[in-house]
Amino acid sequence: MTETKKTEWNSNLAFMMAMIGSAVGLGNIWRFPNVLYSNGGGSFMIPYIVSLFLLGISFVLVEYAVGFKFKKSLARILFSVSKKLEPVAWFILLIVFLITTYYVCVVGWDFIYIILSLTKAWGANPDLYFANNVLHATDSMSGLFTIVPNVLVSVFVIWFLAWFIIKRDLNDGIGNVSKILLPLLCAIVVIIVAFSLTLPGASIGYTQIFTPDWSALTNLNVWLAAFGQIVFSLSLGMAIAMTYASYLPEGSKLVDNAVIVAFSNSGFEVFNSIGIFSILGFMTLSTGIPFNELVTEGTGLAFVVFPQVFNTMGGVAYIIGPLFFLCILFAGITSVIALLEGVCYSISEKFLIERKKTATAVCIVGFLISCIFATGAGSTILGVFDAYLNNFALLFAILLECIIFGWVYKFDDLIDTLNKNSSIKVGKTWKAVIKYILPICIFGLWAQGVYSTAITADSISIIIMAILTVVLIVVPFIFAKLPAINKDYYNV
Ligand code: PFF
Repeated sequence: MTETKKTEWNSNLAFMMAMIGSAVGLGNIWRFPNVLYSNGGGSFMIPYIVSLFLLGISFVLVEYAVGFKFKKSLARILFSVSKKLEPVAWFILLIVFLITTYYVCVVGWDFIYIILSLTKAWGANPDLYFANNVLHATDSMSGLFTIVPNVLVSVFVIWFLAWFIIKRDLNDGIGNVSKILLPLLCAIVVIIVAFSLTLPGASIGYTQIFTPDWSALTNLNVWLAAFGQIVFSLSLGMAIAMTYASYLPEGSKLVDNAVIVAFSNSGFEVFNSIGIFSILGFMTLSTGIPFNELVTEGTGLAFVVFPQVFNTMGGVAYIIGPLFFLCILFAGITSVIALLEGVCYSISEKFLIERKKTATAVCIVGFLISCIFATGAGSTILGVFDAYLNNFALLFAILLECIIFGWVYKFDDLIDTLNKNSSIKVGKTWKAVIKYILPICIFGLWAQGVYSTAITADSISIIIMAILTVVLIVVPFIFAKLPAINKDYYNV
């Protein structure tokens, strides 16, 4: 991570696995099926594929090119582009770090469910069990002062695992773990999908994916939803691709790599949703609950609907249940380590702190922040963090990245960097997308996010968002102002 010891992937496979692992996460497993279903089913694939090519891959390419060309951390890259831009880098990294603090907590809930699923301990009412026995959720903020021990322990376990992986050398930690967890994850998903297709009623579910509602295509919100899914699913703008690409050796085929990563990520979520839909179809057939009531998003789908399904499934649920939650755990861990790597890299490079120490400090601070989510009010605060950071702050950060690299930086240099060794070439169309189309689309998504957050926010959410806004303005300036210990940091 520091100037003295250059970090590099020992194989293209390690890089690809780490990149795919960073993209495949909770968003693929529980966000995609709901977005697909609520935005026209089969016809949603059209805006989805258009967004994938036009916007998703295009932006990943910017991150690849910048990371590969500079071979530096995000903070130092933006400092090199213009000294005034360093706070923007810390702003982006702080958003990523705060996202990680609650993402870890959700992975922690999943960890609890791996254990619960061994005995179906959630009983006949999984919804009540989740709220009362797992989260100990309170309606008011008074719960902020009550720690929920099981959530605290599981959050600690996930932070510990993340620390244990990222403190190691790049190839030994992230590289090897991704090479093990990703194939395991794929194997589990194949088992779940194959099993789900044998269930009675499966066709009620999976035909939804292939039943198009063409009228949805004229709805702007459907296009924004497709784009939003690509942003989330490919982890755009989070400095992940930039960081990972900066560790690539000379001669790497950047464009080819980006296309494979993006296709694998989308392939995973489409394939996985065949399983999710089939299982929900089985549930509709066996209980009579309408299909549309079952396709919920996020925690509702994983921790309420799926336990209900396992209750109706008999003995086989003791195998499929733990596998399902294990799958979320693996997908979550490979994303957490990716989110942390970019943050650690910038800190380590600026303050010349060795990898292990940086990882330890970042994980301790992260764990302390995550403790807020392990209180009775935790799930409420988590919801506000998620809405604010993802719908508002992150999109704003991506917009800034587009403007900086599309307009401030000499963009044509990036074209040369990408085309040098790749078999697939980019040119003027890509440039136009980054300079004009992408900023407009991101702005549309951002405006929609601001609007939906504004109309749904209550007074508590507004207070939390105001605190987050102050933190997101003050802390980046402090980090940018702190003098670099690494004297090379200022060599632009
Ligand atoms: N792309 C990963 C996922 O779909 O879960 C990782 C990720 C995306 C993490 C967005 C956090 C986030 F806000």
